[in-house]
Amino acid sequence: MTIQGSIPEVADPVIHVSELRKTFHTLDAEVIAADGIDLAVGRGTVTALTGPSGSGKSTLLHLIGALDSPDSGTIRVGDVTITEISARRLADYRASIGFVFQSFHLLATLSVLDNVTVPLLPRRGGRRDAARTRDKARELLAAVGLAGRENSPATKLSGGQQQRVAIARALINEPSVVLADEPTGNLDTHTGEEIIRLLFDLRDTYRTTLVIATHDFDLAKRCDNVVHLRDGRLTTEAPQV
Ligand SMILES: Nc1ncnc2c1ncn2[C@@H]1O[C@H](COP(=O)(O)OP(=O)(O)O)[C@@H](O)[C@H]1O
Ligand SMILES: [Mg+2]
Repeated sequence: MTIQGSIPEVADPVIHVSELRKTFHTLDAEVIAADGIDLAVGRGTVTALTGPSGSGKSTLLHLIGALDSPDSGTIRVGDVTITEISARRLADYRASIGFVFQSFHLLATLSVLDNVTVPLLPRRGGRRDAARTRDKARELLAAVGLAGRENSPATKLSGGQQQRVAIARALINEPSVVLADEPTGNLDTHTGEEIIRLLFDLRDTYRTTLVIATHDFDLAKRCDNVVHLRDGRLTTEAPQV
């Protein structure tokens, strides 16, 4: 494990962030959530994003995932400089990466299987595509340990199982990058540990690059890199999580 400073040097960066800034304006305050972030993440690595609550972890993940846009700075993911492309290409980009949230964000009225195929819905294909998508979703559900649960209503599952569904959903587009925002934050220690083991296993199987925002120091210690945030800046101080 290395504690990464503000000048990143990695051999084969798949994520490259430069001079990233984002300020939120509320009615009576301004919050600088990203204050000039430089970051590089190597292909196939697992990076822990640590830091106290409010330090900007979610903001950074949202910006990298194009769920929000920065005020300035550049973000390159693979060959795409996402801070320079059109809204249409940004939608394609968004669909090409995986996102796992703390609170699962499953659709309550849909089955487990349909939740996994949701990211593919906008790309309406023929019937054969639909069949292929469902096969792929079944394969991923088996990979996350949920074979046999395909037709259950998603919200009838336990928290740990719901997060497994969310992870399968994140993988349906075969993303090269998966961003996970405190994926164990709503789970008990044992279940959280299983989810982390699953994420590491999937990284090995699917060769994805993983960035995990987490408060869990035990988890951070197992990652290839640890990036510590404080007040929207990367710091080199020892993580206090
Ligand atoms: N949509 C928003 N509107 C206003 N302030 C926000 C918004 N999102 C985040 N913030 C603020 O930005 C800062 C960083 O938040 P966040 O990225 O959620 O931190 P973390 O994930 O590390 O807890 C916090 O002060 C938070 O209150
Ligand atoms: Mg957060």
